[in-house]
Amino acid sequence: EDLDLGGYPHYMAKEIQEQPESVERMIRGRLDDRFGVARLDGLNLTPRELRGFSRVKILGCGSAYYVGQIGATMIEELARIPADAEAASEFRYRNPIIEADTLYIAVSQSGETIDTAFAVEEIKRKGGRVVGLVNVVGSTIARACEGGVYLHAGPEIAVASTKALTNMAVGFALIALSLGRVRDLSNADGRRIIDAIRALPGQIKTILDAEPEIAEHAKTVAAAQSLFFVGRVRGFPVAREGAQKFKEISYRHAEAYQTSELKHGPLALIDESLPTVAVVPSDELTDRNLAAVQQIKARGGAVLAVTHEDVDFGELDVPRIVVPRTEPELDPILLTVPLQLLAYHAALSLGYDIDKPRNLAKSVTVE
Ligand code: AGP
Repeated sequence: EDLDLGGYPHYMAKEIQEQPESVERMIRGRLDDRFGVARLDGLNLTPRELRGFSRVKILGCGSAYYVGQIGATMIEELARIPADAEAASEFRYRNPIIEADTLYIAVSQSGETIDTAFAVEEIKRKGGRVVGLVNVVGSTIARACEGGVYLHAGPEIAVASTKALTNMAVGFALIALSLGRVRDLSNADGRRIIDAIRALPGQIKTILDAEPEIAEHAKTVAAAQSLFFVGRVRGFPVAREGAQKFKEISYRHAEAYQTSELKHGPLALIDESLPTVAVVPSDELTDRNLAAVQQIKARGGAVLAVTHEDVDFGELDVPRIVVPRTEPELDPILLTVPLQLLAYHAALSLGYDIDKPRNLAKSVTVE
């Protein structure tokens, strides 16, 4: 087992560090520069079929659901098709309406999550078209789907998922390209996204190089019993996943909100004892996000920002974790990575069992 750990103290640490190579594997042979498109033969969908979908519905559980939300936003932005993600665990219980012109995407690391597998069955029973975004080759969900994209993340042992999630987000970028390029996405825009995807492994490496600094921030936030994670639009699923990772292994109460919703209630909880991790990318919402940071600070709340170099916090005293800029549509992929390290180092400083958190299983195969 020590050998498998390759010198790392935990599988989670190893899997976080493996991400540059694991993303390389995910994109190898799948990027077509000439036509600015992704080659995803495993989807088993012709350009004509891809063009025929007027909606996308993504189903997954837990972190896979949150990454599904990241994917839905990418698909809406790049392909301009209505897309949303839903918790697979709820799906079949609400007698969902299955539409022939909806592309259903089941997303799962293990491919064995029972709730997601049942959602796939429900879709198929009612005549829907479902493809998978799955890591484990030949798993139940991979076999049940009519086509799909494998994640090639390699074995993931730690209960807290990291590298598989990053590859899921990259997978959604590839699917968004495929859907976009048979619609309005131009060749030039396709190539712009492809170039950005190709740069991701190196950029992830840059984030991982900042681990010592992130570990210091983690010690500070781990001192609080309760935390908020906030973000807007592209940043909101990032915040949800950040909170999820944090609570899974550090057993701290971590709650995610849309930054815009703070003033509609949760702001009442802000004081010196409740820090906020704020996702503040350099994009069309930066000013709004900064205004919210100011409101939190004005109420005595500490803020740790996950942000880009060019975001100007002015007079605000806000510690920062800076991630490299990519194309805005792909920002969530990189913004998520430091939050893995934040959770890891918080749990480490608190002395918890990082790879096997209490009450949780790697793959949930019973309802
Ligand atoms: C991730 O850190 C969690 N352990 C959990 O939410 C997980 O993502 C979820 O159970 C789905 O698992 P799957 O990807 O194997 O379907």
